Amino acid sequence: MGILQPSRGSHRARRLPPVTIFSDHRAALRGLDQLDVADKRVLVRCDLNVPLPDGKLGDDLRVRAAVPTLQALLERGAHLAVCSHLGRPKGKVVEELRLAPVGERLSELLGIEVDALDEVVGDKAAAACASDARVVLLENLRFEPGEERNDPTFSAALAGLAEAYVDDAFGAAHRAHASIVGVAELLPSAAGYLLADEVEKLERLLHSPERPFVAVLGGAKVSDKLSVIANLVDKVDALCVGGAMAFTLLVAQGHQVGRSLVERDRIDEVREVMASAASRDVEIHLPVDVIAADAPTKGADHRTASIADIGDQMGVDVGPETSRLFGDVIEQARAVLWNGPMGIFEIQPYSHGTQAVAEAVARATGKGAFTVAGGGDSAAALAQLGMTDAVSHLSTGGGASLELLEGKELPGVAVLRKKGETP
Ligand code: 3PG
Repeated sequence: MGILQPSRGSHRARRLPPVTIFSDHRAALRGLDQLDVADKRVLVRCDLNVPLPDGKLGDDLRVRAAVPTLQALLERGAHLAVCSHLGRPKGKVVEELRLAPVGERLSELLGIEVDALDEVVGDKAAAACASDARVVLLENLRFEPGEERNDPTFSAALAGLAEAYVDDAFGAAHRAHASIVGVAELLPSAAGYLLADEVEKLERLLHSPERPFVAVLGGAKVSDKLSVIANLVDKVDALCVGGAMAFTLLVAQGHQVGRSLVERDRIDEVREVMASAASRDVEIHLPVDVIAADAPTKGADHRTASIADIGDQMGVDVGPETSRLFGDVIEQARAVLWNGPMGIFEIQPYSHGTQAVAEAVARATGKGAFTVAGGGDSAAALAQLGMTDAVSHLSTGGGASLELLEGKELPGVAVLRKKGETP
């Protein structure tokens, strides 16, 4: 379970079924296996946007997730021009955001030399892509101002490097950028395994979940998730809301929450969403107790408190009673979506609520429920707990999975669907 796991150093890709139609009302994505790639240079858009603390590769989840598609293309005789963004350099070269360290990891995982270039397009890139090199890694796409603008000239320059295009960058599918939309319009295109797998699983969850379907939402700001909640109340049987975002919902219900984080300007919208849930008989479970601390820092005085007893402290995690309540709801579910931590999980005494949710989700998975964790923080929490296998599917997308859960069509998926309709 978990994301697609390549076998280290092996050239064998795990074979996945060809991509077909994901749901009754959606057009087909053209799958990788429908693209003619033998002896062709294929531009592969990946999301290799990974943390690089001190210039060294941090969590390599996204690099590992890119490997099955790259291996499959190599096995079919393709020559690859892999491309990705890294960070937000805003159209300028930023030395710390070069992709070379990512190229080294990719080379280890693929067991093949990766020629990491120091430019995106230009004479060197054209020469490397015209050579026999099996894997060329273009420099950070966002060093080019045309990338984020979806500039037609830049799209044409990128497309000129290759004869076919594969988009496997689910994490960036919500960006209408040149390497995602512009290029797909110019070259024969297909979805890579990761992109197809993510879209299939998230859409299956949203459109045809087994019931009960429970969503567990957390994280700091309710404003980031209001559209997600609004879309989900139409689809789920119950919602569990933890993390600091729960305090705005509690205040909307009339509770006092001390110095906990509250977005007062969002209370009216929160009330509307809660009323909409109530009118659909969707229960929203909120914390009944918290870990209340003097400050959101390690070493601050903290204690377990009921919601009515937070006093002038602030909630930094859900409490044990809430963990049990959420755990019971999660364990009875046949489909679970989890997005966002229950507290400040990076600080050990405040990580228990998130750990309890992860354990309940793992138990639900063990009982056959289809469980999905999405969003960067949930992935980071599962990685910190050593529990990335606790879910049926761990999404590599942050903003992309949120936009999909909001019910939006992602530009990177829409362009491929259009191509799927008119091969
Ligand atoms: C992500 O980290 O969510 C993706 O790589 C997209 O990055 P962006 O938010 O900088 O576009």
